Amino acid sequence: MPVRQTAERRDGPRGVRIAPSILAADFARLGEEVNRVSPEADVLHVDVMDGHFVPNLTIGPPVVRWIRRHTDLYLDCHLMMDNPGQYLEAFKKAGADGCTVHVEIGGTEALIAGMRELGLDVGLALNPETPLEVCEPFLDRVDLLLVMSVHPGFGGQSFMAEVLPKIEKARRLADAGGLAFELEVDGGIDLSTAPAVVGAGARLLVAGSAIFGSEQPQAAVRALRRAGEAAIAQGKEAE
Ligand code: DX5
Ligand code: ZN
Repeated sequence: MPVRQTAERRDGPRGVRIAPSILAADFARLGEEVNRVSPEADVLHVDVMDGHFVPNLTIGPPVVRWIRRHTDLYLDCHLMMDNPGQYLEAFKKAGADGCTVHVEIGGTEALIAGMRELGLDVGLALNPETPLEVCEPFLDRVDLLLVMSVHPGFGGQSFMAEVLPKIEKARRLADAGGLAFELEVDGGIDLSTAPAVVGAGARLLVAGSAIFGSEQPQAAVRALRRAGEAAIAQGKEAE
């Protein structure tokens, strides 16, 4: 059984955390795939798609329950759904640590309250074309802001560099307002795009293809983290 990710591991000296997305894993061997990344991953990103909010279908709470039996990693459930409120309790019971809902579906206030009540960490996601302003009223109440850098629905798409200013703006807002939310970016993250994303201020990087598409997923996680941390070091040097 993989080792539980301790608070120190999660929040410790590493500036950049990596969340492998199981969307790119072999779903027929999910337990093994999870174990292939667990020793090195900081968080496991679970993409839930309902065929309405996005034109694709994936998994739900029953599969999360089975993943939970294979790992003690933090489970970050990205709910690409029109009606996540109906399923939050099921995700919590299945072993999710945090759920992230999309701001585009509305009802954000109630969804945040529902997640808090259940003891789930609260994440808010926004699509590439959604302005950050839509999320601003909620930023003092979320644990995580997930900036999508592809149109959600599919793995393996190209990173949209036009979201970089939005990431920078979110970082500035967090720093200026003393807001503690984690800034996560999802879509098209690989060794070539991670430095810009971290340079813009993100600290939690989701990567599917770049990790599970690699012969050595653990090494891929380490390489992504190093690429991100090098960008932080470079930024400090330039200061
Ligand atoms: C896309 C998902 C992503 C996806 C990222 O809708 O939210 O988490 O798995 O995959 P890559 O890293 O392949 O872009
Ligand atoms: Zn995702």
